[in-house]
Amino acid sequence: MKIKQGTKIFITGAASGIGRSTAILMGEKGVNLFLTDINGNLLSETVDHIRQKSGTVSVHQVCDIGNYEAVKKMAEDIHQSHGPMDIVMNIAGIALFALIEDMTHDHWKKVINTNLWGPIHGIECFVTEMIRQKRPGHLVTVASLAGLAGLPWHVAYGASKWACVGLSEVLRYDLKQHNIGVTVVCPGAVETPLKHSVEIVKVNEGNPRVIKMKQRFSQHAVTPEKVAELTFTAIEKNKFMVLTSPDIHILYFLKRKCYPLYHLILRIVSYQMNKMREI
Ligand SMILES: NC(=O)c1ccc[n+]([C@@H]2O[C@H](COP(=O)([O-])OP(=O)(O)OC[C@H]3O[C@@H](n4cnc5c(N)ncnc54)[C@H](O)[C@@H]3O)[C@@H](O)[C@H]2O)c1
Repeated sequence: MKIKQGTKIFITGAASGIGRSTAILMGEKGVNLFLTDINGNLLSETVDHIRQKSGTVSVHQVCDIGNYEAVKKMAEDIHQSHGPMDIVMNIAGIALFALIEDMTHDHWKKVINTNLWGPIHGIECFVTEMIRQKRPGHLVTVASLAGLAGLPWHVAYGASKWACVGLSEVLRYDLKQHNIGVTVVCPGAVETPLKHSVEIVKVNEGNPRVIKMKQRFSQHAVTPEKVAELTFTAIEKNKFMVLTSPDIHILYFLKRKCYPLYHLILRIVSYQMNKMREI
């Protein structure tokens, strides 16, 4: 769909990283923004930045996307005052790396609640209203490379992101009859504050292997602004899948066309990551 002046866009995770860059880019295009995040202070900063550049933020609200009742209430309020959205963007997420034997049930709950229930709540509360009101539009969900490849130490994160890719693929077909396009964004490394907030269970922050891993991450990370640009183009061209960097294209290609090499690469990654636990 064409994104134009006044297009109504709902974005989760707008306070930081990819969500923030996306909100700023969309603001520059003259759209009407509806922003949410669990971090109120950072969300206000994003809103101030957009408004200083003459962007329009009609609503910004602190909300935990893992809390169905809270998302439902926010959606009802927004729909009552502004009607259905044109574009819904599920971007908020958290990262947690762990070996399964080190994880508590709370680790699982936290990741699945934010990364899977969050997007489901966005779809339940906002996309179904678009259908009810016969509003054509677009749905974007930010998954990850971890939603396409079995990345070691990503068991809960990967489960949530594979599910996001899966539900996006189903909705690609189910929403077509309602003229709602679907895009799933699968970034590899993106230089955002997630690099610092990622929880690596039972591994010390100062562990030299972790420091090295984060350095390597930054060396081939793309900017959140680039992800926002790619997502913008994908919406306009109704492109289903966005892979954000060449390394992701290569790994996904190898998985489909040369599985033994893909398998070997992941075994090497697994070997290297397991070494974090040995120090
Ligand atoms: N940065 C990367 O390398 C990378 C790679 C692949 C996928 N992703 C995905 O991109 C998305 C955005 O991540 P980012 O890198 O911009 O990280 P980020 O930490 O910069 O931004 C994530 C935002 O989500 C918000 N958030 C977290 N839990 C929330 C909740 N329960 N309710 C509402 N808001 C919540 C945070 O407050 C934050 O503002 C996530 O879904 C992440 O999994 C990131």
